[in-house]
Amino acid sequence: DGMQLGLGTGSTAKHFVELLGERVRAGLKVVGVPTSEATRADAERCGVKLTTLDEVDHLDITIDGADEIDPDLNLIKGGGGALLREKIVAAASDRMIVIADDSKWVPTLGRFPLPIEVIPFGLGATRRAIEQAFAQCGVSGQMAVRNGKDGHVFVTDGGHWILDARLGRIADP
Ligand code: A5P
Repeated sequence: DGMQLGLGTGSTAKHFVELLGERVRAGLKVVGVPTSEATRADAERCGVKLTTLDEVDHLDITIDGADEIDPDLNLIKGGGGALLREKIVAAASDRMIVIADDSKWVPTLGRFPLPIEVIPFGLGATRRAIEQAFAQCGVSGQMAVRNGKDGHVFVTDGGHWILDARLGRIADP
């Protein structure tokens, strides 16, 4: 009671927001910062009071999902395209709790394409710089600009694009 929470994005985090809404309707007092417009809409629908990182600098806990989790608790996130806001909200939080089912456990990260949020300006140069960084880290693979369900380029809540890097195996995250 009384906590300031970061609210993650994705189908798993959505369950959390809905359960939190039940507690709020039963009298729990919390305030949340959503990591996406989708989560904002879910939280509003569930009656969870919201604020922004313009109003508060510090959050007690962020609860979010993940696309892959390795045995050292390294994660891939961003399958839902909210990764930049998710990182900003997580960085403002004392703790981050990831909820996931066992389909997310992997021995080594990389089966899930690694999402990288990029500014469209200068994309070619950014892409080459990322490829160089991958080479320095000993990983390689195909990288593609993500398309949405409508076939057009997927645009994040921040107006950016996503490069999905199919690296296969990330031995040293
Ligand atoms: C959103 O950008 C992601 O980081 C999600 O948190 C992550 O993809 C997990 O989503 P699901 O719970 O839908 O698998």
